[in-house]
Amino acid sequence: MKEKDPAFVKFRGIVKRFGEVTAVDNVDIDIAEGSLVTLLGPSGCGKTTLLRMIAGLETPTEGDIYINGKRINDVPIHKRNLGMIFQNYALFPHKSIFDNVAFGLKYRGVSKEEMRERVYKALELVRLPGVEKRMPSQLSGGQQQRIALARAIVIEPDVLLMDEPLSALDENLREDMRREIDNLQQDIGVTTIFVTHDQREALSMSDKIIVLNQGVKQQEGAPEEVYNKFTNHFVADFLGHPNFIPVVVDRAMDGFMQVRLASGETFLASPAIDFDRGDKAEVVVRAQQLKIGLKSEFGEQEENMNYLFGEVRDRSYMGGEVSYYVGLHDGSMLHVIVLARRVPLKRGEEVYIRMNPADCRLIKS
Ligand SMILES: Nc1ncnc2c1ncn2[C@@H]1O[C@H](COP(=O)(O)OP(=O)(O)O)[C@@H](O)[C@H]1O
Ligand SMILES: [Mg+2]
Repeated sequence: MKEKDPAFVKFRGIVKRFGEVTAVDNVDIDIAEGSLVTLLGPSGCGKTTLLRMIAGLETPTEGDIYINGKRINDVPIHKRNLGMIFQNYALFPHKSIFDNVAFGLKYRGVSKEEMRERVYKALELVRLPGVEKRMPSQLSGGQQQRIALARAIVIEPDVLLMDEPLSALDENLREDMRREIDNLQQDIGVTTIFVTHDQREALSMSDKIIVLNQGVKQQEGAPEEVYNKFTNHFVADFLGHPNFIPVVVDRAMDGFMQVRLASGETFLASPAIDFDRGDKAEVVVRAQQLKIGLKSEFGEQEENMNYLFGEVRDRSYMGGEVSYYVGLHDGSMLHVIVLARRVPLKRGEEVYIRMNPADCRLIKS
């Protein structure tokens, strides 16, 4: 019996060059059937190009793409059974919602009756039943995007491709739509590739995140994994609110690595890779993982916790949360995000910062 390949969509050694520009640089990706995978990275990192290659809108310069075990490099676009939604994938303004959603079925030899059934079902799935007679201009932006989603899924695609589909919507609507897309994707179980530059979007809805920079895959993994177990500076930075603390590696201690600041203070960190004594490195700890308090209120040090001391340099209230910037003795600045205290810390106050060594990740600088 033939083993089923666990990867439903596969990229192998994919390179895409546009003249001098290498948009995608030797990328391998595995996407499990029924999963939602996000391609995450800054503008220009090659996300759209990767998606367009699956769609058949671009041809790889090198490498192979497989869907369900079949190499599709030379399969023409209309023979790839894919649903697509793009940021500005406008609906046809002069067609009714019914005709918009039915569009992809017209060329598939589907009977009138089946077409009606499938369109109504798709409208129900995007929670807009009953709008089929309306025109696109009679729907809100968010509703129009849901119609675009209905149009993409009505054909029962092998893979659903979404390129920044929410970036034109305002923040509140985006949050709702994230949840809806996530739920819908799980309900119908369609393998989905979602492109975004927004790390919160990626973290909130993905089974797997693939982080890209300058055409190169940086890391992949479950949201918690790339957020907490990042392997390089770029990934740590891109996933949000990092502090980068330059240190020199001292010695292994209690299952951690002791590191030294320029000021001479030492603390414990969790090494992402092997380090030797004397190596220059950096500790990354996220702003939300730090605790802060007045130095005058500082009691006994808890065992196996790191403490650093400094002075509040700046503070900004964000409603519920407060952002503090604390100057350390070695001249560096730490960003701390905590729930608002009843009595806020003031600029110039002496504070201590508590960090869990498990949250202090030691990486190559
Ligand atoms: N048709 C094209 N011709 C020339 N360069 C392109 C073309 N499409 C994309 N690029 C370049 O390839 C790189 C990746 O682009 P793109 O895939 O659109 O990135 P992203 O979607 O992550 O913003 C960019 O440097 C972009 O300028
Ligand atoms: Mg793009």
